[in-house]
Amino acid sequence: MKFFLDTADVGEIKKALAWGVLDGVTTNPSLVAKTGRRFEDVRAEILSLVTGPVSLEVTRMDLDGMMSQAHELRALGPQVVVKLPLTREGIAACKACSDAGIPTNVTLCFSANQALLAAKAGATYISPFVGRLDDISMDGMKLIEDIVTIYRNYNFRTQVLVASTRSPVHILQAARLGAHVSTIPFAVMDQLFNHPLTDLGNEKFLKDWAKVPGQAG
Ligand code: E4P
Repeated sequence: MKFFLDTADVGEIKKALAWGVLDGVTTNPSLVAKTGRRFEDVRAEILSLVTGPVSLEVTRMDLDGMMSQAHELRALGPQVVVKLPLTREGIAACKACSDAGIPTNVTLCFSANQALLAAKAGATYISPFVGRLDDISMDGMKLIEDIVTIYRNYNFRTQVLVASTRSPVHILQAARLGAHVSTIPFAVMDQLFNHPLTDLGNEKFLKDWAKVPGQAG
């Protein structure tokens, strides 16, 4: 399973890159707004750091506007993936991008039928939002299970990108289900490292190592 970082914060991206396990980045308008910086500056810096797929979202909701933004974003770099909303216009734009060889990430997916539409339109990635479904007492991971099954049934090439992840358990469940990608907030990616037995074990190894003749100090 690929790990994307769900952020527009360049500092977080640098830290995750240093861990050596980062495959790509996803952004959205809310994440960009959180940085307080201009989108032009943020995306340029992200693209200078990340060679893997970087999802940049369109903000026009009409088909012509989406397509003009799609071309503009894609021209910024070969790693740019155009993020499109799961609306009628977004799906039409996805088909047009697919025909033009522009990779896409169809976002704001909350049902398996929506995921089926995105796959039929040739989406590179579908982003089902598990956390936001959990927030309204629905089972976000059940949606991932359904989409993975449906895509396998018909050999769709669209990759399932688990979005709106909120905890390490989401990442574990996504991997168990065979999702292709999880996009993960920095704090959650950081939590993946943690285990008290790792800390205790390391502490003991270092204490014992200090007892080895010639190694103290
Ligand atoms: C990623 O592509 C999505 O925009 C993001 O995961 C949404 O996460 P949220 O529901 O925590 O805002």
